[in-house]
Amino acid sequence: MITVETVASLRDQIARFRQEGKRIAFVPTMGNLHNGHVRLMQEARRHAPVVVASIYVNPLQFGKGEDFDSYPRTPSHDKVALLSAGVDVLFKPPESEIYPRGKTAQTFVEVPALSDDLCGAFRPGHFRGVTTVVNRLFNLVTPDVAVFGKKDYQQWQLVRLMTADLGLPVEIIGVDTVREPDGLAMSSRNDYLSPTERKVAARLYEALGTLRDRHRDKGMMLETVEENAIMELRADGFRPDYVSVRRQQDLQKPGPDDRNLVALVAAWLGLTRLIDNIEFEINI
Ligand code: PAJ
Repeated sequence: MITVETVASLRDQIARFRQEGKRIAFVPTMGNLHNGHVRLMQEARRHAPVVVASIYVNPLQFGKGEDFDSYPRTPSHDKVALLSAGVDVLFKPPESEIYPRGKTAQTFVEVPALSDDLCGAFRPGHFRGVTTVVNRLFNLVTPDVAVFGKKDYQQWQLVRLMTADLGLPVEIIGVDTVREPDGLAMSSRNDYLSPTERKVAARLYEALGTLRDRHRDKGMMLETVEENAIMELRADGFRPDYVSVRRQQDLQKPGPDDRNLVALVAAWLGLTRLIDNIEFEINI
């Protein structure tokens, strides 16, 4: 694996692969890699002979009072994961390579409306930071394919919309969420949980399964199953930001004819904000 830290050396590497006529698949991350990330890199390999991963904790997507400073940075652990995943190039830039004119002066990319919905309503500016950095990384890496996790469902959809709107020649792949044995979605932020919270955390995904069954199998109304999930999560000690059922394709509120749905949740457990979702189909 080759590690590059500057845009110039990244471009040299990319040019070499292009000369060899090789397709490039890209997996952007913020590091502290777990099996979810590794799964993305394995998927990337299925699409191209060259896999580029990036590790960059992007300040633009963290709000005031959020965990930018304490976000886990684990370079030697990450190296092992990247090697095991067979990544060819790691791009690990300092901030000056990503935002050379300073992060407040940076031109931004924002997908309207959906960026302010769901998680965006609780984390103002977060998705603008995500689409801005992903667009810049796409322009630097120039991948044919980029792989994202459906764990961050809204992020995945926003990246798809941005890529289509800007006409970027990148195919966006979504990968199913990788979970711990008890169902908790793997996440760098799980490390923040106390042992007691960690046991309770699995209830989040269970609540989504219950919600799905109540709506899909028992025909209960969406508003009712959303409210029930919120009440039950509160009883378990969570402080939910939202529980919402949407259409898979664009995350709009579903109409009576929509069959492919996704239930999304964000909830605090102590000082940790967890997100998760479950896709399901309504049979006619
Ligand atoms: P990060 O949280 O490091 O996640 C990097 C990628 O891994 C994202 O596409 C995310 O959805 C995926 N991922 C995380 N946990 C997963 C799991 N349990 N199963 C499957 N995929 C999982 O998301 C970001 O970084 C940043 O916002 C980024 C896109 C890098 C832009 O800064």
